[in-house]
Amino acid sequence: MRASITHVLGARPNFVKAAPVIRALAALGHEQRIIHTGQHYDERMSDIFFVQLGLPEPDVNLGVGSGSHARQTADVMVGLEREFTEHSPSVVVVYGDVNSTVAAGLAAVKLGVPLAHVEAGLRSFDASMPEEWNRRLTDQMCDILFATSPEAIGFLAREGRPVDAVHLVGNPMIDTLLANLEKFDASYGSRAHGLTGKYVVATLHRPANVDSPPRAAELVAALHEVAAEHDVIIPLHPRGRATLTAAGLLDSPRVHVVDPLGYIEFMSLVRGAAAIVTDSGGVQEETTLLRVPCLTLRPNTERPITVTSGSNRLVTRDELASAVLKATNDGPYAGELPPLWDGQAGPRIARILTRWLGSESADD
Ligand code: UD1
Ligand code: UDP
Repeated sequence: MRASITHVLGARPNFVKAAPVIRALAALGHEQRIIHTGQHYDERMSDIFFVQLGLPEPDVNLGVGSGSHARQTADVMVGLEREFTEHSPSVVVVYGDVNSTVAAGLAAVKLGVPLAHVEAGLRSFDASMPEEWNRRLTDQMCDILFATSPEAIGFLAREGRPVDAVHLVGNPMIDTLLANLEKFDASYGSRAHGLTGKYVVATLHRPANVDSPPRAAELVAALHEVAAEHDVIIPLHPRGRATLTAAGLLDSPRVHVVDPLGYIEFMSLVRGAAAIVTDSGGVQEETTLLRVPCLTLRPNTERPITVTSGSNRLVTRDELASAVLKATNDGPYAGELPPLWDGQAGPRIARILTRWLGSESADD
């Protein structure tokens, strides 16, 4: 007999996206299992999100940890094959575009377990990014595709995915943001980190930006240019710690490097910022909703709606300092938000999954 809905979570952005879906399914009385792959494992990259977002403790943590792409993906597959065989989930729900996402998809479909993808159809069309392969391959395997943004529907259709499998549901990352909005204290930056005046938050973790020492050195120089005008605070992802530090990140007294922050602290910092510099996917969306100017240090984005509907702008290293200056002078953006980014994505997903499970069991 097929039992519970199983969620596979592995990395920081997954936790933020899954929380409202799990909550909405629980409200409808579904039995659920949460499997943490262990891709992210530091307390500040994992546990703190479960506590702050009220996520239930994972039923299992596979403990795969860090490693090469093949090793990490394979270890998740082996652990999940065992889990899915023992527990026969009615459907597996995966999130976003990390290695744990595609690994869970492969493990599920090879066992004939139905698969649902939250944040389906995002495309950067940049094949040099591991996430682009994770997205495309995951979407090919899915029975149900939950899109956060309208352009995803066309991309999925072009890739041959059946129209009735795709549902535009809004954005669960925005559900989490709206649910916690009252807790984001814009004075946190000055209170906890001594930031004065208009300050800039930076996050960097993409391999293309932080893995190579020459590129890291270019970005550190650009951040120092920004720091000539404003305090810059960087909650540093562990991936870039060694290269960015070796490139002299700490050499400017107005660059404040801190450990990765909990969700409430991070969003508080963002809420009080004059601008954000990032290569994160989620941060491009959160700043769209919070209307904080965002400068994205990438040549492309899988989230173009944050450029057309928000104040996100793709910038090169050379443009960064002047773009930040312009953004901090122009101030907040007040355009129309993307459709259905209203805090109700979780309940929409829960209702669609419930209907889908009902029709599947009627077919048995
Ligand atoms: C992963 C995702 C990326 C996502 C990011 C979110 C893939 C291919 N990449 O990138 O899409 O944007 O998460 O943060 O899935 N490390 C620690 N502690 C941890 C986790 C990682 O120190 O808790 C360090 C390790 O040195 C590890 C490195 O960070 O080798 C990279 O971790 P990994 O999960 O492989 O990729 P991310 O860069 O975190
Ligand atoms: N985040 C956080 N603390 C931090 C940095 C990020 O809580 O110090 C949150 C924030 O909500 C962000 C999410 O983690 O949207 C995922 O961030 P990350 O950049 O790691 O992943 P991506 O969205 O690029 O895959």
